[in-house]
Amino acid sequence: MSEHLDLSQVNVDELPVVPNPLLKLEGATIQFGGLIAVNQVSFEIMPGDLFGLIGPNGAGKTTCFNLITGVYKPTGGSIKFEGNEIAGFNPSKIARAGICRTFQNIRLFGALSALENVMVGGYLRHKTSLLSGLALWPSAIRETEELKEQAMQLLEVVNLTDVAHARARDLPYGKQRRLEIARAMATNPRLILLDEPAAGMNPQEKEELKEVVLRIRDEFGKTVLLIEHDMKFVMGLCEKIVVLDHGEEIAAGPPSEIRSNPKVIEAYLGEPV
Ligand SMILES: Nc1ncnc2c1ncn2[C@@H]1O[C@H](COP(=O)(O)OP(=O)(O)OP(=O)(O)O)[C@@H](O)[C@H]1O
Ligand SMILES: [Mg+2]
Repeated sequence: MSEHLDLSQVNVDELPVVPNPLLKLEGATIQFGGLIAVNQVSFEIMPGDLFGLIGPNGAGKTTCFNLITGVYKPTGGSIKFEGNEIAGFNPSKIARAGICRTFQNIRLFGALSALENVMVGGYLRHKTSLLSGLALWPSAIRETEELKEQAMQLLEVVNLTDVAHARARDLPYGKQRRLEIARAMATNPRLILLDEPAAGMNPQEKEELKEVVLRIRDEFGKTVLLIEHDMKFVMGLCEKIVVLDHGEEIAAGPPSEIRSNPKVIEAYLGEPV
C-alpha cells in the first residue's frame, strides 16, 4: 500500500454518513442557591428524533427546557445546537437559531384570534415588522398575506381551521395547547420543545395530539423533544426517552427499557410506568 493516501481514489458517496446530533447537552448544570435543579445532564438528540424527557414533579424537566432556550444560563456544562455552543445565548437568539417551544402554563395572546396568534409566530422569521405591516407598503401587505396563508396551513395541521377567527382565550384548553404548537411551528424551527402538551387533555384529545406530533415530525421533518407525565402517551409516541429525578439523569433509552428500569420504577414510587 502506498504511503500517501490518494484522495482521487476515494468515492465520497461510499463513505459512511455519520449524522451529527442536532442538540447535545454535556454535563448541563444549573444551581439556584443551594438547590442543584439540573445536575450534570447529558443527552444527544439526532435530527428527526421524537424524544421524551420524563421524571417526577420537580425533577428538573422544565428547567432543562429553560437552559436549552436561554431562559437560564447554565452554571456548568455545555449545550450545543448543530455543533455550536448556545449555552447562555438569550432566548430570541436561540429562537432565531431554530429552537422553539411551548410552555407548561399556556402563553397565548388571549385577546387575539387563533390565526393572529400563529401569525405572530411567523413575524419572527419574516422581515416585516408589525409596524411596517401597518404602514401598508405593498411588500408588507404581500408578506402579511403570505403569513396569513402559512398560518392557516398550520392551523389545519393542528386541526383548528374551524376556530381560526375565535379569540384564543375562548378556546377550550386542549385547543389552546394545539394552538401553541402551531404558533411555535410558525417560527419554522428545526427543534421544537413541548412542555407537557397533553396536560389536561381527555383521552380523545390526547389521541388527536399524538397524530399532530407525528405529522410535525414525519411531514414537516421537525425534531421533537417533549416533556410529559402521561406515561402511556409518552411511551406510545417517543422512540427515545431520558429520565430525570432530583435534577439527575437516572435512565436513558427506548421506552421498552425505560419501562422496566428499576431506578425509574423507584423514582415513580412503584407507580406503573
Ligand atoms: N428560578 C428558580 N429559582 C429557584 N428554584 C427553581 C427555579 N426554577 C426551578 N426551580 C426549582 O428547580 C426544581 C426543578 O423544577 P422544574 O420546574 O424544572 O421541575 P419539573 O421537572 O418541570 O417539574 P413538573 O413536572 O412539576 O413541571 C424545583 O425544585 C424548582 O422549585
Ligand atoms: Mg415542568
